[in-house]
Amino acid sequence: MELLYEKSKAGRRAATLPNYDLPAAEVPEDLRRAEPPRLPELAEPELVRHFTELSTRNFGIDTGFYPLGSCTMKHNPRVNERVVMLPGFKDLHPYQEEDGAQGALELMWRLQEILEEVAGLDACSLQPAAGSQGELTGLMLMRAYFEDIGEGDQRDTIITADTAHGTNPASVTMAGYKLEKVATDARGNLDVDDLRAKVDERTAGLKLTNPSTLGLFDENIEEVAKIFHDAGSLLYYDGANLNAVCGISRPGDMGFDIVHINLHKTFSQPHGGGGPGGGPIVVRKKLEQFLPVPAVVKDGDAFRLDHDRPKSIGKVRGFTGPFGVFVRSYAYIRAYGPALREMSETAVLNANYLLAKLRDAYDLPYERLAMHEFVLSARTLKREHGITALDVAKRLMDYGYHPPTIYFPLVVPEALMIEPTETEPKERLDDFVDAMRAIAEEAAASPEVVHEAPHGRPVRRLDEVRAAKRPVVRYAFDEPAVV
Ligand SMILES: Cc1ncc(COP(=O)(O)O)c(C=O)c1O
Repeated sequence: MELLYEKSKAGRRAATLPNYDLPAAEVPEDLRRAEPPRLPELAEPELVRHFTELSTRNFGIDTGFYPLGSCTMKHNPRVNERVVMLPGFKDLHPYQEEDGAQGALELMWRLQEILEEVAGLDACSLQPAAGSQGELTGLMLMRAYFEDIGEGDQRDTIITADTAHGTNPASVTMAGYKLEKVATDARGNLDVDDLRAKVDERTAGLKLTNPSTLGLFDENIEEVAKIFHDAGSLLYYDGANLNAVCGISRPGDMGFDIVHINLHKTFSQPHGGGGPGGGPIVVRKKLEQFLPVPAVVKDGDAFRLDHDRPKSIGKVRGFTGPFGVFVRSYAYIRAYGPALREMSETAVLNANYLLAKLRDAYDLPYERLAMHEFVLSARTLKREHGITALDVAKRLMDYGYHPPTIYFPLVVPEALMIEPTETEPKERLDDFVDAMRAIAEEAAASPEVVHEAPHGRPVRRLDEVRAAKRPVVRYAFDEPAVV
């Protein structure tokens, strides 16, 4: 596809404005350009066609099935977009005085209350803008707590699972803690013996997602929590996988002390391509005093921002957090009402339906009931036909699907992590099964077709490392610019 610069024709304009004969701005000589900027020149129809064409080169949940494990790419109900565009929400200014923003404060306060109930914990801050920022905030809370009880210097280590998402070790390191990894046992649970040997008086806490990135609920979670609490440590729940357990089990009841919730996953936001997101944290009572300021509180019948929290870790984001995200998530949760549990039950059912239909075509590393996602392996395809998880993922694009997450978690070779979510109908799941099974058959019958996929996309296999390390973000003109 040609770039705008290549389509450009000198003198063409998308719009012409009347000349109002206003005085031209006086720009000092030394700041003036010698030449006009080299902008592409196009008529409006060409411009519109260009961007419309570009938009069709993208793949999103609105164009097709998007089973990207761990990312919970579910349908975003359009009514939430209507709600967030209501003038009272859309036109609100973050510096609006509290009297004039009572509705917004009430919405945030109510959302906090709901998230506390979902997490089974006592106090919430909506401030963090993503799961990873929630993780960092949670670790700052741990540090503040241990410093407050005089154990700040003593507790310097956080334990994570060897299946952990990359943001877990990253946030541990950013927060200045040492990292210790615990192995996964043969059933896909944390290896409790390995854990016991690693938890001691230096351990600040555990960071864990449950269900894990293998899509498996840890069967020993209460025992795990006891090991940490007996050692005086805290438990942090990475809530990225909350879509599996809403209204069914609560992190607080499992023994976790701090939870982040990825609003953009479980509670629906149009979050492809990097945003917007929300990563509120919910904590046990003893940690409430350390939460970020300002806190949104209810005072009699009114709502206000409370800055008077002397032990707070301070602000982690501007103002009170990503407000539009709160409106959408609140609308989404209220639409379900008490039936929120059905969201998770259907997500789990859909994942297990796919698992049952695919288990004989791919390797299944853990023979267990899955939660909202599951991990298959292309190990046998690789050994017998030279077809890897990457090949399967690329071939799926030819069948019209977004690939699942691949090569993660790291403990499964040739991993394919599939999360269908609750918003897909049975027909769509069946079509996906047909595609996955067809690819497994192709791997044996005509491996070159799979190995060279995708065949029907605008680009084939990309050098992803080079694209990330040396991105070309500037048009290379033949002539250097005159400044
Ligand atoms: C298991 C897990 N933990 C943490 C995160 C981080 O969340 P975020 O992308 O909102 O920073 C993710 C994101 O994909 C995840 O899957």
